[in-house]
Amino acid sequence: MSEEQGVQGVASVLRLGYSGGSWGRLFFLHSAAIGVSLFMQAGHVEVKFEPLGRKVDVGRGTQVLRAAMTAGIAMDTPCGGHGTCGKCRVFLSGSVADPTETERSLLSEEEVARGMRLACQSRVAGACTIEVPESSTLEAAYQILAGPNGAASVGVSDPVVRKRFIALPEPSRDDAAPDLERVEQALGAVSTDVELMRVLPERLRDAAWRGTFVLYDSRLIDFEAGDTSGACYGMAFDVGTTTVVGVLLDLVTGDQRATCSRMNPQTRFGDDVLSRILHATQEPGGLAALQEAILDEIASMTQRMAEDAGVALGHIYDVTFAGNTTMLHLLAGIPPRALGQVPFVPAFHRGLAWSAADLGLPIHTRAGVHIFPV
Ligand code: FES
Repeated sequence: MSEEQGVQGVASVLRLGYSGGSWGRLFFLHSAAIGVSLFMQAGHVEVKFEPLGRKVDVGRGTQVLRAAMTAGIAMDTPCGGHGTCGKCRVFLSGSVADPTETERSLLSEEEVARGMRLACQSRVAGACTIEVPESSTLEAAYQILAGPNGAASVGVSDPVVRKRFIALPEPSRDDAAPDLERVEQALGAVSTDVELMRVLPERLRDAAWRGTFVLYDSRLIDFEAGDTSGACYGMAFDVGTTTVVGVLLDLVTGDQRATCSRMNPQTRFGDDVLSRILHATQEPGGLAALQEAILDEIASMTQRMAEDAGVALGHIYDVTFAGNTTMLHLLAGIPPRALGQVPFVPAFHRGLAWSAADLGLPIHTRAGVHIFPV
């Protein structure tokens, strides 16, 4: 209910109540009280999370755990928010509801006196500040596993992307072959797309016919002026239910140039696979929110790794994603409903080959995306 609707609700019960007689007055008082109560509940209040300093506006009565999710804070909730594990401890100050019986049974009197509460049991009553101890976060509960020195164990073998620096002969009276034929005389038969064909003639001439052709298998995906053959990169991501690990690889030397590991931001929608399937299938816009969360994180990790390695995003031409069946469905934006119902049928089993543009990744626009078989 919006504030405007709340005001209209109060106004309408006032009109109804002013109809005379003691029953009318009683109805008036009772209805007006309900109206005011609804209006108060409809109000939004600011909740501040420390030590991150994040602020969110939530409705009065919102569960503190849900407010934390809204703020993008992934809390450790082993019991799934059922009030049995006592792990989701936070410190509240400001306007909060009284501790529940469950909280009093799981926390000591001294802890309650210090303002400690359980995020899954307490509710926001007004503007308040919530301190989330590191021990209550998912990051503290899980160690992100990677190889020695943080490097994941990923290698390069026969990369699908190749770059070739070539100086083509310029057209002349004796050699008036079309541009694409001239390119194929050097590279062999290639396929290309309409967007590249629209810019290729100008680029070839601007570069004086000397430049680097980028091949994805036998598909010509770009022509870059000068010799950029040494700048050829790919990425690999392991998308886990709890953590995401990424590696930036040099496709020429096979070296790992950067790694990055983060918590899977989808944990704010639920710790486990089943709760995310439920969120994707039962909440309006749930699947889109889950996909956006992981793709935003992948984009952020990509930018971080490229920056760390001094690599241009446009020189990343290939990405591979591995993960469990549900994580790959959510990454691809494929509804996971059937994964949560007997006989648990996935939408795909073999690997998928898409383009970076399909997922909106901030790398070369014609980069390839491989989603591993599940
Ligand atoms: S998540 Fe277990 S008690 Fe709150």
